[in-house]
Amino acid sequence: MAAVARELWNSVTTHPKKLIAGIERVLIDVDPKQEKLKQDLVEIVEERAKVDVGISHLDSQHDYYDAIVLSNILNYKNRAKVDVGISHLDTQHDYYDAIVLSNILNYKNIVENNEKICELLKKMLESLQPEGIAVIHENLEKFPINTIPNLTKLFDVFLTSSEHTNEALGFEFYTMKQVEASLYVGSNFLDVYWVLSKSRDLQLYDQKLVTFRDFLDKTQYTEDNVKAYEWIFGENFISPGGAPENLKILKKFKTLRPEIRMLDIGVGIGGGARQVAREFGVHVLGCDLSSNMLVHALERNQRDKDHRQRLCSAYFGSEEAVSYYL
Ligand SMILES: C[S@@+](CC[C@H](N)C(=O)[O-])C[C@H]1O[C@@H](n2cnc3c(N)ncnc32)[C@H](O)[C@@H]1O
Repeated sequence: MAAVARELWNSVTTHPKKLIAGIERVLIDVDPKQEKLKQDLVEIVEERAKVDVGISHLDSQHDYYDAIVLSNILNYKNRAKVDVGISHLDTQHDYYDAIVLSNILNYKNIVENNEKICELLKKMLESLQPEGIAVIHENLEKFPINTIPNLTKLFDVFLTSSEHTNEALGFEFYTMKQVEASLYVGSNFLDVYWVLSKSRDLQLYDQKLVTFRDFLDKTQYTEDNVKAYEWIFGENFISPGGAPENLKILKKFKTLRPEIRMLDIGVGIGGGARQVAREFGVHVLGCDLSSNMLVHALERNQRDKDHRQRLCSAYFGSEEAVSYYL
């Protein structure tokens, strides 16, 4: 369980938005049935946040040091104040640096109730500091597979306005990832978490299409189009030549072997990733922006239980993105 807690918390401490500011106030809530996960999370957040290695010396020195090496000081300088329980959301405004929820939608029985989820998202946005990070972890193994893309789409385009300042609020969507500990230990490919950050600088992609992900899912890669593309290009592929052509290309890389790790950007429904894992034993992280694409990849990976493949929902457009998603 501690591995899950560490993984969730790592997604906060390594987040590109938090490199400059320290993390001081954190809200955690976990399904009460998972008391151990809650304890682990609280412990890890407190333990990792309390390290303080001597930057007070900076106050008294002038033209003195040849070099200053700070390791994780920005992240861990302050002891975090941790509140437990989403009831705290009702009373806080622009307060938390991070909110980590684990299986709360499941516990509250609202996984498939968009209205209730939106009420929670609104409270989270009100309570987070500007650019504060939200991690929403849910084990969706017992739900229909399309629950994952449905939640992804909801978090991606959710917009509201603040009751306090009247400004528009929404999330910047960073990633949806599988919990590695669940994938490797329990062969559960549908235990996932989303990493979002509060955004006030909302730039709408188009009047009706809120983000590029929204654009892809509603235009080029609608559910019907994805099926049509697969019918045209051949099973598991959304690109000309399908499996045979992809295999020819893979064979040109003379270096593919089991210990290699590969990043498949624009993995689509995952045919290429599954092929390189199966044929060469390569470990692949497949990323895609389109939720409609990823749902097929997730479903087939859950069916095959091949641990050499992981998936994440992410937008690739910068180097920062690549290092964070890996
Ligand atoms: C032509 S399909 C290829 C899919 C797969 N590689 C295959 O060969 O079957 C291109 C994929 O790239 C994804 N994509 C486009 N722009 C992206 C971006 N900036 N970040 C992540 N994925 C992106 C699309 O959603 C789509 O699934």
